[in-house]
Amino acid sequence: MTKMKASSDTADARAVATAEGAREFLSRARSVVDARLDALVPAEGVEPTAVHAAIRWSLFAGGKRLRPALVLAAGETFGARRAELMATACAFELVHTYSLVHDDLPSMDDDDLRRGRPTCHVRFGEATAILAGDALQSLAFQTIAEDEGLDPTLRVRVVAELARAAGTPDGMVAGQSLDLAAESRAGVGADELDRIHERKTGAMIAAAARCGAIIAGAAARELEAVSLYAARLGLLFQITDDLLDVTASAEDLGKTPGKDARALKATYPALHGLEAARGRARAVCREACAALDAVERPTSLLRALALLTLERRA
Ligand code: IPE
Ligand code: IPE
Ligand code: MG
Ligand code: MG
Ligand code: MG
Repeated sequence: MTKMKASSDTADARAVATAEGAREFLSRARSVVDARLDALVPAEGVEPTAVHAAIRWSLFAGGKRLRPALVLAAGETFGARRAELMATACAFELVHTYSLVHDDLPSMDDDDLRRGRPTCHVRFGEATAILAGDALQSLAFQTIAEDEGLDPTLRVRVVAELARAAGTPDGMVAGQSLDLAAESRAGVGADELDRIHERKTGAMIAAAARCGAIIAGAAARELEAVSLYAARLGLLFQITDDLLDVTASAEDLGKTPGKDARALKATYPALHGLEAARGRARAVCREACAALDAVERPTSLLRALALLTLERRA
């Protein structure tokens, strides 16, 4: 009995230590990424000032920076130097922020709160928000293409990965289109919902981890394992996003909760119910971690990031 207690305490302590370590990693990644992003984006005073102000409004509003952190975490797991990873990490955040600006537009999810602030189009008007999103996307690819810290062959490879993940038919744009088409439509099944989630959110998250591993020169088998891990992590991230839309507050989320139900979105809680959605999130988290069993090096940071995603409150 004493022994069992002791061993479970040890396991808990280890889990806490790992989760704390991962939280600290995320927080440090956020600082370095924010500093680099600040240097990359034109100052507000540069013409056209409206576009630059809109970009800065949306970019520096307190995003979690999960995708850049994953580039760094996967890259460093497989031995890349941070200097080689930074441009790619920032590029993922630039594309992600563009996707949020466009996701919030009246013709898409029509949201007025994002990252705790009025959305880009509410603050700057629709045309400027569209242009800010466009410019964020261009800047992402420019940032990788011009990064002298990264070998030119790897730049091309990473640009292709990011473009594939952001676009169509298997990337974020495809997922966003399927998401909108599924709105209000009866008969969206579990497989179709997974296909939507894997594209609109999963593809960018999977590519972030893949790019880190590619830059590090991970072996084919390792890349396969990390791809599987991150694809499950991406699905997990959208399941928890769906759950938080039902259960969290605007203050915690920095966006308006309850929007999915109002827009009749196809989501995990809508399709499976809250409890089953939570169970599925736990199972997908386990699958993400199991994929890393094929990697013969320490993967505790990547595993902890999956657990933090499962347990996140915002
Ligand atoms: C929100 O992404 C949109 C989804 C893909 C679910 P995040 O929850 O990562 O948003 P930020 O970047 O922290 O604001
Ligand atoms: C959006 O999913 C995914 C993106 C590609 C931006 P959601 O529409 O659920 O994201 P939130 O909840 O508005 O952040
Ligand atoms: Mg959306
Ligand atoms: Mg939305
Ligand atoms: Mg959502």
